[in-house]
Amino acid sequence: MEKFTTKSSVQQYVQQQRASGKTIGFVATMGALHAGHISLIDIARRHCDIVISSIFVNPTQFNDTKDLEKYPRPIAVDVAMLEQAGCDALFNPEVEEMYSGDEGWHLDIGELEHLLEGRSRPGHYQGVMQVVHKLFTIVKPDEAFFGQKDYQQFMVINKMTALMKMPVKLVMCPIVREPDGLAMSSRNIHLSADDRRHSLVLSQTLNQVYRDFDPASIAGLQDQAMQTLYNEEGVEPDYFVLVDGDTLHPANQNTQKVVALVAAKVGNTRLIDNVIVQ
Ligand code: PAJ
Repeated sequence: MEKFTTKSSVQQYVQQQRASGKTIGFVATMGALHAGHISLIDIARRHCDIVISSIFVNPTQFNDTKDLEKYPRPIAVDVAMLEQAGCDALFNPEVEEMYSGDEGWHLDIGELEHLLEGRSRPGHYQGVMQVVHKLFTIVKPDEAFFGQKDYQQFMVINKMTALMKMPVKLVMCPIVREPDGLAMSSRNIHLSADDRRHSLVLSQTLNQVYRDFDPASIAGLQDQAMQTLYNEEGVEPDYFVLVDGDTLHPANQNTQKVVALVAAKVGNTRLIDNVIVQ
């Protein structure tokens, strides 16, 4: 696997690949890789000739400096996993390579930024868009692969690329789970043994709602799900909602695509998960 830390070197590599007619697939990550990330590499390999991945813990998307500081950075293990997965190139820049001091960024994507995760993490999606815009400008991928795990993030990036007319196709990839159902996340390592047990209530509640879904009883299902989350020791639910998968507005009887989204603090760790209900 080729490894680059500068924009110019990865750009040169991309140009060479393009000149020989290769298509470029891109997987953006913040490292601390797990099977969820690797599934994106696998899917990208099936779609494109060359797969480039980035590992960059992006400071502008953290609204909590402690969260940024304690974000895991096991780079040697990550590199080995990418090599094993058959990733062709890694872009792993320092903060200074990506940002020139206190630069401004704001893109108005409307209410999408302020709903759900956006409400709990003000400014988070501006930071995500800022870095993904930079990465897309550097790598210029034909296709970019993101996880359904961060459903709203996918929608935000989709909106940005549409507004800015960026010539990249976005592909949403399924959520990879632990055998017991917990959605894989780089943050799971912060869960104590007790937290880890309690965290299962998220995927279990989503499954229950998936099984019981009936468009006529959306409000009841949401209330019941919130109650189940509240009842679980060590779990502080933020939201459990059934929404329109295209707008994130509350779902109703006529909604075509319904997604259940959940966020909760388990111990000191904030977890999110979701399921496409219909
Ligand atoms: P990160 O949390 O490292 O996630 C990188 C990609 O992996 C995202 O597209 C995310 O949705 C996907 N992913 C995470 N867990 C997954 C799982 N269990 N199954 C499938 N896919 C999963 O998301 C980010 O980084 C950053 O915000 C980023 C887009 C890189 C911008 O900094």
